[in-house]
Amino acid sequence: MIVIDKLSVQYSDGKQVLHQVSCRVNDGESVGIIGANGAGKSTLLKSFVGLLMPSQGRIEIHGVEVNQKNVRKIREMVGVVFQNPDDQLFMSNVYDDIAFGPRNYGMTEEWVKQRIYHMFHAFGIEHLEKSHSNKLSGGEKRIVAIATALVMEPSILLFDEPTSFLDPRMRRRLIELLKELEMTKIIATHDLDMALELCDRVIILKEGSIYAEGQAKDILTNETLLLEAGLELPYCLQKCMDIGKV
Ligand SMILES: Nc1ncnc2c1ncn2[C@@H]1O[C@H](COP(=O)(O)OP(=O)(O)O)[C@@H](O)[C@H]1O
Ligand SMILES: [Mg+2]
Repeated sequence: MIVIDKLSVQYSDGKQVLHQVSCRVNDGESVGIIGANGAGKSTLLKSFVGLLMPSQGRIEIHGVEVNQKNVRKIREMVGVVFQNPDDQLFMSNVYDDIAFGPRNYGMTEEWVKQRIYHMFHAFGIEHLEKSHSNKLSGGEKRIVAIATALVMEPSILLFDEPTSFLDPRMRRRLIELLKELEMTKIIATHDLDMALELCDRVIILKEGSIYAEGQAKDILTNETLLLEAGLELPYCLQKCMDIGKV
């Protein structure tokens, strides 16, 4: 279980971005974090893994407090896919990028190879094995970044805008893969259709505070609430465009 208790986070320039955020995420739950640009979604995800430390309040993951001392322990439990894939790809080829985490944690080469081929197969990206991560397209980078987080089979996965840059087929593959994964998932996203399909619960952030929280199907069908938070209904719930009039 993840417990966030009155979490406030401030950047080094003094800007306070999260204000007294409290929530819980149960094991195996899939939670969407939604909100307009600048609402604090990425800041919240960074706080989960100790990239930003609370100015007030605390976060506990499986009973371990997120602080400098526990960062390694926390990173073992929590896999992250950052908003910008360039932040997590730095080796000379795709295979080594995905292998970096497991090697760092002392996994055998045989284990690493098996897991990586499993990832390649799941996403259909076997052909990228020897490619230079820097030279991939945005969508390919995104998939490789996701593979680097999934390869360790962490008990909690955090995703920051996982479907951005993805073409429809890759987006679909990702959604189907995430559906099969039983670990706890926290997904910050503007892709409300994906949130509706994947998430049990949704939290709306507005200006760094929790604006609303509830079952995904309740929150994501509440147009008034979504508009108040600078969002709109998922596309699948919007009225069809009358193509004849376009
Ligand atoms: N490194 C930083 N230093 C100062 N302010 C930041 C930094 N990163 C983000 N912010 C500010 O924090 C607010 C929330 O940003 P962010 O968490 O990225 O929002 P979201 O992911 O919901 O779009 C924004 O107003 C942004 O300008
Ligand atoms: Mg963000």
